[in-house]
Amino acid sequence: MTPEKLCELAKEAMTHSYSPYSGYKVGAALLCADGTVYTGCNIENAAYTPTVCAERTAIFKAVYDGHREFTAIAVCGGKDGVITGRFPPCGVCRQVMGEFCGDDFVIYMVGPDGYETATLAQLLPYSFRASAHMQA
Ligand code: THU
Repeated sequence: MTPEKLCELAKEAMTHSYSPYSGYKVGAALLCADGTVYTGCNIENAAYTPTVCAERTAIFKAVYDGHREFTAIAVCGGKDGVITGRFPPCGVCRQVMGEFCGDDFVIYMVGPDGYETATLAQLLPYSFRASAHMQA
């Protein structure tokens, strides 16, 4: 799976977005360690806070199916599905990534021309992880 192909799958996932409130369509494509890809879109709600982001939709689908090891995720989004700039994952999604992914997990942020790459360590420094529960 190339980064370019993963970004294409994120763009396709964007078309599944349910976003009548913000109008922002977001798509994500998550690459599992075994090569399986899970896609997700943002799903909004009239009460706003129950909204789930594209990244978490993809991660939760994968975890439900038994996957716990992930290599990379591609994310894209834009008003009415038009990509005008990159769409960095929100803080909640970064924290969810931190539950399952290591510092070297790769995030491809799709822009109008290509993509930018960051690691989870770059997007979520000083992260709160399970190990914190074990310190006494
Ligand atoms: N959104 C995502 O899907 N992923 C993010 O990381 C940031 C925000 C969605 C939530 C909402 O439906 C829309 O983008 C506007 O905030």
